[in-house]
Amino acid sequence: MNVPLLDLVAQYATIKDEVLPAMLRVVEAQQFIMGPAVRQLEAEIARLSQAKHGVGCASGTDALLLPLKALNLRPGDEVITTPFTFFATAGAVHNAGGTPVFVDIEPDTWNIDPAAVERAITPRTRAIIPVHLYGQMTAMERLLRIAQPRRIPIIEDACQAIGARRTIDGEWRAAGELGWVTAYSFFPSKNLGAWGDGGMIVTSDDAAAERLRRLRLHGGAKQYHHDEVGTNSRLDTLQAAVLLAKLPHLAAWSAMRREHADYYSQAFTDIPQIHPPVVDPANEHIFHQYTVRAERRDELQAHLKKEGIGHAVYYPMPLHRQPCFAHLGYKDGSMPQSERAAREVLSLPIYPELTRAQLARVIDVIRGFYR
Ligand SMILES: Cc1ncc(COP(=O)(O)O)c(C=O)c1O
Repeated sequence: MNVPLLDLVAQYATIKDEVLPAMLRVVEAQQFIMGPAVRQLEAEIARLSQAKHGVGCASGTDALLLPLKALNLRPGDEVITTPFTFFATAGAVHNAGGTPVFVDIEPDTWNIDPAAVERAITPRTRAIIPVHLYGQMTAMERLLRIAQPRRIPIIEDACQAIGARRTIDGEWRAAGELGWVTAYSFFPSKNLGAWGDGGMIVTSDDAAAERLRRLRLHGGAKQYHHDEVGTNSRLDTLQAAVLLAKLPHLAAWSAMRREHADYYSQAFTDIPQIHPPVVDPANEHIFHQYTVRAERRDELQAHLKKEGIGHAVYYPMPLHRQPCFAHLGYKDGSMPQSERAAREVLSLPIYPELTRAQLARVIDVIRGFYR
């Protein structure tokens, strides 16, 4: 039995009767740009994030880039972030005219280490971007204690963490609630995925929301009147309609991912070479990825490939070692936890539609490798 890493066709079969009519309504109205579905989705995603405003845009990458542009970075301005993330997090800093400053991650959750953030702050620090990696929130309360007294804005990269939550002082706080702004991606493979590219920024800062709405429309609040230079980065109405139709399923899909994760982690207790993901007890993980540390990872990958089991390494090269950032001067060994994670992590199939037989097959193949 082959088990793919992701099976969007299986998901399509369960929702097509809801999504196709929603798309057809957009087609029949011919309102492809900034149609009513965009505003409706913005309101829904803001509510989910316990934030005031949602600003749809073209991708998760733009959802990071637009707020960074709104900071008016000047050459030499620094933005602190993690090197163990998808490239877009740091690419957006560079494209907004800033310099990414990488600090290492915590070895258990793989999220940015707040103590390392504090050590990296300089008078040029203009923002901090934590990434809620694989669907588990960063310890936002620890970051806020560092950032707030210094008035440094936090941009949450929640591209992998829509709907994730964390208890802080006994209360559930949502991804998107505590940062200055938060970026979401609707890339098709995400827990809430469009049928193409899409993204959204949420914020409770009224002025920021207004500015971001301008920036995504060439910087003009009024048509043909430009207060500043922005760009074209809108969320497509067709994609908003797809996402609105899928949104009522999101909580159940993420719960199913958690159930699969429990099943794997339970089974891996008797495979000592596999170290299941560590969930911080304060967090409700949404398991965008189920990622383990695996001994002899590269050999295990070859075995999984031979047996038809989908898998991936997110991410094989930390960003401080990428050739495009060589000029920043980081050396091998400068971010030991990120470098170790890049050598050891392996993501396994976790999509909601997986059957118990498929999960059991993945576990059997892994057990067979270490036997
Ligand atoms: C952590 C992270 N940041 C940013 C992005 C960029 O999102 P997009 O692919 O929608 O541009 C992604 C997703 O691919 C991501 O996983």
